[in-house]
Amino acid sequence: MSGSKKSKILVTGGTGYIGAHTVVELQQSGYEVVIIDNLSNSNIKILDQIKTITGVMPVFEKLDLRNKIGVFEFIRSLPNLGGIIHFAASKSVGESVKEPLLYYDNNICTLVNLLNAIKGRPLNFVFSSSCTVYGEPDVLPVNEVAPVKTAESPYGNTKQIGEEILRETANAGQKLKVTALRYFNPVGAHASALIGELPIGVPQNLVPFVTQSAIGKRGQITVYGDDYDTADGSCIRDYIHVVDLAKAHVAAIKRMEARQTKAVYETFNVGTGKGNSVLEVVNAFERVTGVTLNYRIGNRREGDIIKIWGDVTKAQNELNWTAQSGLDEMLASAWAWEKYINENPF
Ligand code: NAD
Ligand code: WQD
Repeated sequence: MSGSKKSKILVTGGTGYIGAHTVVELQQSGYEVVIIDNLSNSNIKILDQIKTITGVMPVFEKLDLRNKIGVFEFIRSLPNLGGIIHFAASKSVGESVKEPLLYYDNNICTLVNLLNAIKGRPLNFVFSSSCTVYGEPDVLPVNEVAPVKTAESPYGNTKQIGEEILRETANAGQKLKVTALRYFNPVGAHASALIGELPIGVPQNLVPFVTQSAIGKRGQITVYGDDYDTADGSCIRDYIHVVDLAKAHVAAIKRMEARQTKAVYETFNVGTGKGNSVLEVVNAFERVTGVTLNYRIGNRREGDIIKIWGDVTKAQNELNWTAQSGLDEMLASAWAWEKYINENPF
């Protein structure tokens, strides 16, 4: 960027879990941020929380990206946009199996609307992808050239299709530069405990269920199987602190602005490169918080892969980014957020 003035970044889904943390990191890196969100899975009070953390209230437009005209009109009102970080989507694997059309509508049509609205503009675009595109990897750690397997859910398929749409659009000479970030398992919350994950209904993911059980909002935790081919029999994942994940998005934008990209479409694994089992997470939570968890070993959950963790050397070398926080810090921050939201319900 010329001079010290940073560009304006549009963050779709910016009041959501990962989006809000990324808005904080963008603002603290000097970027001006504009958020589009339809508040279908987040709360507008997050804007005040962001302002409390950074001192800057982001520009906010309540808009559903399925509204093609609305998207065209709003994007036209942003002539000096430098980049877009696209988080807005539905993300529940289980729900996607029951409601596939909702997922193709909300995760694909919204992306196409956004790309049509910016057609021909020289923009930097960061896409929220997922390690779910790898399925059960044949080789661990899994790297970015690992084969993309047939998706195990409509949700996972929307991420694979989203990557294909972006790759083909970027290669069609649309002046678009695209960085697709394949997230592993984001957990935890900002150190201020003012923003964090706000699951609606019963959390499907492990860490929010653990924290809600620990605070008494949920009952017994079920560990979905301890008879897998792992050291303690439970599944292994690459958990990454949501703040580290947010910082990876800023690194991706900076790299594109500095014209350090090697292609118009690139993918990066964003994880810690380490795997932890479900039982290791449970035991770490008890150790870090001093809270004894009420859990039992139950049956396997359908669709679960056994183990995955990322080869993150490409992000380290190319994005100049490495995850800083370990599992203990992730879980301590998740617990601090759970206690905050319990005393300050939105
Ligand atoms: P989230 O639900 O907290 O945030 C998504 C935000 O997008 C919400 O604020 C929601 O209101 C908004 N939104 C959804 N549909 C919209 C639409 N049609 N128009 C406008 N806004 C809309 O989810 P998150 O955990 O922050 O995930 C963000 C992105 O990262 C998603 O694309 C998700 O698929 C991806 N991802 C998440 C995880 C994870 O474990 N959380 C892992 C890998 C990838
Ligand atoms: C982690 C481990 C469970 C809950 C999902 C999506 C993925 C991405 C991240 C969007 C598994 C076990 C869980 C519980 C348990 N989302 N578990 N008891 O399944 O790795 O990934 O979220 O992109 O696409 O698939 O995350 O947190 O649901 O599960 O034992 O109550 O914890 O079996 O082994 P997952 P998770």
